[in-house]
Amino acid sequence: MADLKWWQTAVFYQIYPRSFADGNGDGIGDFKGMIEKLDYLSDLGVNAIWLSPHFPSPNWDCGYDVADYTNVAPEYGTLEDFKTFLREAHARSIRVILDLVLNHTSDEHPWFLESKSSRDNPKSDWYVWVDKPPNNWQSCFDGEAWTYVPERDQYYYHYFMKQQPDLNWHNPEVKQAMWAAVRFWLDLGVDGYRLDAIGTVYENPDLTPHKVPFDLAGIRRASELAQTPEEKKQIEKYWYDMFRNQWAQPGLHELMKELRTVIDEYQDDRVLVAEDDDIAYLGNGEDELHLVFNFPLMRAERITPSHVRRNQKERLARLEALPVKGWPCNTLGNHDTSRIHTRLCDKQHDAALARLHAALVLTLKGTPFLYNGEEIGMTDLIITDPTKLRDTMATWYYDRLVNELKVDPQEAALRAGEMSRDKNRTPMQWSNNPNGGFSPPNVVTWLPVNPDYRNGINVRDQQNNPNSLLNYYHYLLQVRKDSPALIAGEYLPLNDTARDYLAFVRKTKEQAVLVILNFSEKKLDLDFSRLKEIRGRNLQILFSSAERLKTVKPPNALAINPFEVFLAEVEPKQ
Ligand code: GLC
Repeated sequence: MADLKWWQTAVFYQIYPRSFADGNGDGIGDFKGMIEKLDYLSDLGVNAIWLSPHFPSPNWDCGYDVADYTNVAPEYGTLEDFKTFLREAHARSIRVILDLVLNHTSDEHPWFLESKSSRDNPKSDWYVWVDKPPNNWQSCFDGEAWTYVPERDQYYYHYFMKQQPDLNWHNPEVKQAMWAAVRFWLDLGVDGYRLDAIGTVYENPDLTPHKVPFDLAGIRRASELAQTPEEKKQIEKYWYDMFRNQWAQPGLHELMKELRTVIDEYQDDRVLVAEDDDIAYLGNGEDELHLVFNFPLMRAERITPSHVRRNQKERLARLEALPVKGWPCNTLGNHDTSRIHTRLCDKQHDAALARLHAALVLTLKGTPFLYNGEEIGMTDLIITDPTKLRDTMATWYYDRLVNELKVDPQEAALRAGEMSRDKNRTPMQWSNNPNGGFSPPNVVTWLPVNPDYRNGINVRDQQNNPNSLLNYYHYLLQVRKDSPALIAGEYLPLNDTARDYLAFVRKTKEQAVLVILNFSEKKLDLDFSRLKEIRGRNLQILFSSAERLKTVKPPNALAINPFEVFLAEVEPKQ
């Protein structure tokens, strides 16, 4: 394991700052709160934090509209608080990576204020300006992609909200300014970046219009109404066609290479991970990014053994094929996606499925990323009062549904609540005190706290319950930490056609670990007699969600309980 980098052996934990911990009791998370919770994270056993944006922002997109790249949003604290947070995290051997939003700034960023002020100011070319909307392109958040500015009598382009104008990355001055901001935090000691939405940085220079018979509100509504698999497939194609000219355009690999050289100025292993699943962004394996997320793993209605096997086969083969082998990076949830325990569970076996999902991410080959709250089984909270929504893409959609598509307001509110990302961003539930212990009682939190904190979905209750999901995560993280094979081993799939369970071995020179995840309610009798990796060897149990003796022998026929998570070290041949 000695030759692995820290970001290959670490388990990352994503903090969504607004919702993680409210240290000053104003209903919004902050650095004081995050600092107070570092011991919690350290005890849990994570080694690195990805911090969603903490920069000053008017919050049209919850911080992903940055108004100053080198400062801290006042509601989160000061730059000094950030430095304390970083120092205290490092003191606990927890690395910290930040979010880097390259595609756009806030429309309140001084760069944009200057750029929009006239056609001939020094930053006039820092954004994407045109005289007239050249096409029917849509913004993926709020309809028209071109917005008029009277000062210039021109339009600017935005892939996201109109409050998020796209930077012109063809302008070398933009690069220099952004690289300076990148160095600012690296100089302070941060360990790298998660790169936001890199696919959107460039647009097709031909400005080719899309031919989809919908605008944004129309295609969203059509997606909701699609019933049959054919209709759903057609809509998926429409989504792709609508944005294909605004996504993954030439120039990105060169840009990533340039950013990599900036990062490599720091010779102590800083990391870049992209919010993209395209392995091509790893370049030759050492000249672009270090990691891309395995989003195809989480894009499934249910996690099934065959889905995981197909996914691993395809991705690991591509990573292996790079001139310098790439490293996988697995996650099942983040701040943009319905929570794991809502999306991937079935309302019948949720407790068991939650444990299987955690085991999957923590035992597959690659760097795991966890999203704050998943360790206590937080669920989506659908906010059906549109005035309480904070995700502006949802409030925009509500408005269109009611006023343009003439959808009944009650249905519109439900649809907006369902598509809003607020549902998976509600405050972290720390205890069963009012407000889930996130803020003092009677404080109105920035998003409502999910009332299920009263039913044991909170940190304190789970800390006190040895059988809780939190203690399970804690234990599994420890098992992983102590196992060279689970951290570094190759992934060798077993019983390739099994529909009910996933079985694989993770193997290094020094250790082999057998992982069996039974995704079914069936009791299994597994026959390993023909598997040379296992045949005739004792299995030393590392973890089992069923009651077991420490050693299983002989292992040729192994009984696995319904929904069991089974991890065992395969002892070397006698
Ligand atoms: C990324 C972020 C998302 C944000 C968008 C625009 O997808 O994860 O939260 O809204 O980029 O910055």
